[in-house]
Amino acid sequence: MDFKDLVQKRRSIRKFTDERVTDEQLRLILRAGLMAPTGHGQRGWQFVVVDDPQKLQAIAQCRPAGSDFVKDAAVAIVVCYDASATDVWVEDASIAAVTMQYQTTDLGLGSCWCQVRLRGNAEGVSASETIKQLLGLADNIEVECVLGIGHPAIERKLQDEEKLNWDCVKR
Ligand SMILES: Cc1cc2nc3c(=O)[nH]c(=O)nc-3n(C[C@H](O)[C@H](O)[C@H](O)COP(=O)(O)O)c2cc1C
Repeated sequence: MDFKDLVQKRRSIRKFTDERVTDEQLRLILRAGLMAPTGHGQRGWQFVVVDDPQKLQAIAQCRPAGSDFVKDAAVAIVVCYDASATDVWVEDASIAAVTMQYQTTDLGLGSCWCQVRLRGNAEGVSASETIKQLLGLADNIEVECVLGIGHPAIERKLQDEEKLNWDCVKR
C-alpha cells in the first residue's frame, strides 16, 4: 500500500475476530518497531509479546476504562523502555508503537493503543505496576503503552480528507 493511503487507512480498532495473528505477521510488526528512530540511537525498547488469554484479561483490567479491548486482542505488544538509558524514552517508545501500528494496518490487521504511562486503576495502583508485576519486568523498565492487535471485527471508514484541520498548520 502507498504510504499516503496507509496513513489514511489507519484507524484504531478495538473489536477483533478470533483469528490468530501469524508468527510472520507478528515478526513484521516487531521488525517495524525495531526499525523506528530513537534519540541518540539508544534503541532501549523492550517489546513484550502477550498472547495468553488470562494475561490479556489481566492487562485489560489495569485501568477502569480505556483498556478493556485488550482482552479480545489476538496478541498484545507491551511497549516498554529502559528509562535509565535516556531522557527521551517516552518519545522513543511512542514512535516505535506508532510505527508498529502502521505495519499492522499494512498487513490488513487492526490495532489500538492502550495508554499505560500515567494511568492506574480505581484503587490507585498504577497500570504500569500492574503490568510489570504480571509480566515480571525489571524495576528499570517503564511501560509506555500496550498495543492490542488482531483481525478487525469491524470496518472503519477511511480518515476524511475533508475534515483535516489545516488551520493548525502555520507557515
Ligand atoms: C497517546 C495515545 C493514547 C491513547 N490511549 C488510548 C486508550 O487508553 N484507550 C483507547 O481505547 N484508545 C487510546 N488511544 C487511541 C485514540 O483514542 C485514537 O487514536 C483517537 O481517538 C483517534 O482515532 P483513530 O486512531 O481511529 O484515528 C490512544 C492514542 C494515543 C496516540
